[in-house]
Amino acid sequence: MELCVPKLLSMNINQVIDNNPIGKAHTPTSALYRDSALYESVKENIFCRYPFWIGHEVCFDGKNNLFPINVYPGMLDEPLLLSKKESDFHMLSNVCTHRGAIIEKKNCSKNRIICPYHGRRWDLEGNFQFMPGFKEVENFPSDCDHLKKIALYRYNSFLWGTLSDDNFKNLVPDSLFQKYMYFFPFDRLQKAENFETEYAINCNWALYCENYLEGFHIPFVHPDLNQALSNEVYPVICDKEWILQIGMAEGNTNCFDLPKGHLDYGSRVGAYYFYLFPSTMLNFYPWGLSVNQILPQGIDSVMVKYQTYVLPGAKLANSAGAGLDKVELEDQEVVMRVQKGIGSRNYTRGRYSPKHEKGVYHFHQLISRALL
Ligand code: FES
Ligand SMILES: [Fe+2]
Repeated sequence: MELCVPKLLSMNINQVIDNNPIGKAHTPTSALYRDSALYESVKENIFCRYPFWIGHEVCFDGKNNLFPINVYPGMLDEPLLLSKKESDFHMLSNVCTHRGAIIEKKNCSKNRIICPYHGRRWDLEGNFQFMPGFKEVENFPSDCDHLKKIALYRYNSFLWGTLSDDNFKNLVPDSLFQKYMYFFPFDRLQKAENFETEYAINCNWALYCENYLEGFHIPFVHPDLNQALSNEVYPVICDKEWILQIGMAEGNTNCFDLPKGHLDYGSRVGAYYFYLFPSTMLNFYPWGLSVNQILPQGIDSVMVKYQTYVLPGAKLANSAGAGLDKVELEDQEVVMRVQKGIGSRNYTRGRYSPKHEKGVYHFHQLISRALL
């Protein structure tokens, strides 16, 4: 399914994002965060094309088998329907192929999909079954009467989708994520008591991501987190659409029990922070997983949706992920400062620290590549 429109940039992206090696490059001009044509291009060429997080399978347990999903609420608002048939999942358009009604509004349990407007029916895989009053219609049904199928990726218990053609077949196999996290018991994750939280932040989505992608600010902005993590070693590894930051546990901070043969075997890893371009942040701790979904709401506003999953019996105390709320509020304050700063007539662009800002640089290169 192709939702994308031609690239809309009024300027060359190379004028905004510098493609020189990190030691020579300048950080982006403020156009990246303030130009509305560029924001439209980001929407169509990045958010419409790259994977978005749907959730852990545990969110789709229980008696229901149909789950309406609104993709990027506040930005794309694309209505999809996740359908579960036995243990298989199918991602479908939630828009009726007759006259465009939204089909399901709430999670429900049904053995077929029925449009509430004029009764068109499909099976749980979106195949057309029946439509009243259509006996005399020629060449009916045809392919366009089935519900549109949307690319869905399933990795152990995680689900991602994309709205464009299936460009991301290798989203997980052979990726950085698979290399580091293969040992993690994904299927044992449970929803935490306070499972979901949302924060609305007055800044451009990219500023929020940039801040996430460097640990450079931790000693300055997060004094408590700084006690839990070592700031001597803070590896950052970039590969394709993935950026991994590794938080080494300090003192008595809990660490992963890594299997022999793991790339970090013998190291005290307190947290694996994975970013999947453009909108999924997966933060793994010995106690479980915290997911941040980046949902742009406009050029200068972003919603960050947190989901917390825990492993049975795990403890948050003495962990790099304890006090997540405090860390989040500290981050929000600093990114809003940057949003104000980049609007100043006296700011144009800066430089990168090759030691500390590799992830930020890679993020900018991914944007640049997607918009070229
Ligand atoms: S719009 Fe769905 S059956 Fe008419
Ligand atoms: Fe931070």
